[in-house]
Order: sequence, then C-alpha cells, then structure tokens
Amino acid sequence: MKFFVDTADIEAIRELNALGMVDGVTTNPSLILKSGRDILEVTKEICDLVDGPVSAEVIALSAEEMISEGRRLAEIAENIVVKVPLTWDGLKACAVLTGEGRMVNVTLCFSANQALLAAKAGATFISPFIGRLDDLNLDGMELIHDIRTIYDNYGYETQILAASIRSANHMSEAAKIGADVATAPPAVIKAMANHVLTDKGLDAFVKDAQKAGIKIV
Ligand code: E4P
Repeated sequence: MKFFVDTADIEAIRELNALGMVDGVTTNPSLILKSGRDILEVTKEICDLVDGPVSAEVIALSAEEMISEGRRLAEIAENIVVKVPLTWDGLKACAVLTGEGRMVNVTLCFSANQALLAAKAGATFISPFIGRLDDLNLDGMELIHDIRTIYDNYGYETQILAASIRSANHMSEAAKIGADVATAPPAVIKAMANHVLTDKGLDAFVKDAQKAGIKIV
C-alpha cells in the first residue's frame, strides 16, 4: 500500500520523506488554511520536495470553473493531481481533465455508487472518507471493502485512496482490505511505530544494559 501524507506542512513532509515514507501528498482547502500559506506557493514547494503525486483541490462548484482551476493547478508541476469533489459537476470536470491527460483525484466519496461513477468518469484516484463515516457511527472501512470488490469485479484501474484516516488501526485495516493508497496525517503515520510492549521491552533492556555496564561506542 502506498502512503500519502495528508498535510500542507512542509517540515512534516520533509521529515517523513527522508525516511522513504512519502509516496505522495494530499491537500485540501482546510489543510491550506492550517498552513497559513498561499496555495500555489506551498503546493509548488511540496511538488519540488516529493516525487509522487500531489493532490491540490479546486474550490469552484461548477464544472466549467473546476476545469479552469484544474488546468491552472496542473501548471504548477508534472506531479499535480487535480482534486475535485464527488458532485455531478465534479464528475464532469473529472472526465474533461482526465481526457486532457491530467491525473484526477475525486474526493469526498461516501458511497460505493459514488465510487462507481468516479471510475466510469476515468478518475485516477477515488478518495473514500473513512473517519467522517465513523464519526456518524457508520462503518468507513466497509466502504473501502465494497469499493475494492466492485473495482475488482470489473477491473477498474481507478486507485482506491483511503482518506480521512484518524488512527494507525485505520492504516492496517485499509492495507488488509487492499486499498491502493492511504493518506494520513503525519502524526498517524508516526503512531504506527508505537506499541506498548515495545516501550516495556525497551525499558527493561535499557535498565539491564546499565546494570551490565554495556558500552558499544
Ligand atoms: C483527503 O484527501 C482529505 O484531505 C482528508 O483525508 C480529510 O480528512 P479529515 O476527515 O480528517 O478532514
């Protein structure tokens, strides 16, 4: 499973990238707001830093304006993925931008039918939002499972980009189901390294090393 980082925080991306943990980046208007940066400027910086796909989201609501914004965003760099919402206009924009040879990520997907439409419209990525479904006491992971089944049934090439990931558990569950990509905040990716038994075991080893007077360098 590929890891995308869900942030516009340059330093966080740089840190994870140095460890080979970044296969791509996703941003959205809320993450741009959080960064306090200009969208074109910060997105360009991310694209220069990361080799993989970098999703930048349109803000328009009509297909025509989404297409114009998508073309502008795509000028930033070769690895830009234009992110459009899963509305009827978003699907229209997806079909046009895909037809122009651009990568498109269809975002805000909350149902298998929406994912089916995005695949028909030629989306490069579909972004089902796990956490926001879980917030409503629905099963976000079940949606990933349903989309995987449907895409595999018909051989759709649209990649499933599990999004709105809130925990390390979401990452392993998405991987077990076979999501092509998962996008997560830097803190969630780092939290994947944590285990209480690792901490306990390390604590014992450190104490014993001190008792034994072990010195390596
Ligand atoms: C994905 O592309 C979105 O930017 C993101 O995963 C949304 O996550 P949230 O529901 O935690 O805001």
